[in-house]
Amino acid sequence: MLELRNVVVRFGGLVAVNDVSLDVQAGEIHALIGPNGAGKSTIINVVMGLYRPTEGDCIFQSEPVSGQPTHLIARRGLARTFQNTELFTDFTAVENVMVGLDHEYGYGIASRLLGLPSWRRKEDAARHEALELLKKLRIEKFAEQKAGTLPFGLRRRLEIARALATRPKLLLLDEPAAGLRHHEIIELNGILEDLRDQHGLAILLVDHVMKVVMAISNRVTVLNFGRHVATGTVNEIKSNPDVIAAYLGGASGHA
Ligand SMILES: Nc1ncnc2c1ncn2[C@@H]1O[C@H](COP(=O)(O)OP(=O)(O)O)[C@@H](O)[C@H]1O
Ligand SMILES: [Mg+2]
Repeated sequence: MLELRNVVVRFGGLVAVNDVSLDVQAGEIHALIGPNGAGKSTIINVVMGLYRPTEGDCIFQSEPVSGQPTHLIARRGLARTFQNTELFTDFTAVENVMVGLDHEYGYGIASRLLGLPSWRRKEDAARHEALELLKKLRIEKFAEQKAGTLPFGLRRRLEIARALATRPKLLLLDEPAAGLRHHEIIELNGILEDLRDQHGLAILLVDHVMKVVMAISNRVTVLNFGRHVATGTVNEIKSNPDVIAAYLGGASGHA
């Protein structure tokens, strides 16, 4: 579904991603792990068109995405969340998701201001779809609460609901479990598994939290200092000596 081929990303003299190849297959949760600064977020930014790779290619469903504008990439079926949540804090939860649906319903600000019936119908349809997405993230009972008043763990889930509003085929999550408590992590695991198993979504999951990565990932890719260390199943990764040396046994403390 997604393929990175020998991707290099340089920022001035710094090589953030150094000749990385990886692929995400349909219907899989593919984890991308590695210590801070390993290049994980940079890879998400390359896939979403924020950074252009210095070298190499990024292919989504047989067509290159490298260098395309983010909104076109989104329309092709890719969506992401950020390492730090970016919600409209004064909007309610359901409105935050409706903003993500904007494109689908072709909201015209003029028809909204004039209160035209066509706008009403569209708004009702958008609200209905947004509520369905909140349900998938198990936060529908917070629909009318302002995003800024939600506890941290629920804001993170709301961000995923909003990302789903563009109806992606592949979802890229940047550290969705960071800062979550144990029971929130268990719940998130169940939600991500449902998105994969019941809604057919592929997920590229960047995370440090081993309780998530090891519990739900079909495959894991390990990076260290921008370089690819290994790709394999959870069991293969756990017993890979290069991984143990570079990451699990290293000084990062996240394992
Ligand atoms: N826009 C940027 N400009 C300069 N350096 C950057 C930029 N983005 C990331 N980097 C650097 O690239 C390296 C990889 O960063 P990042 O992809 O954020 O790592 P990770 O997400 O694995 O913690 C780091 O050394 C970081 O400082
Ligand atoms: Mg990061």
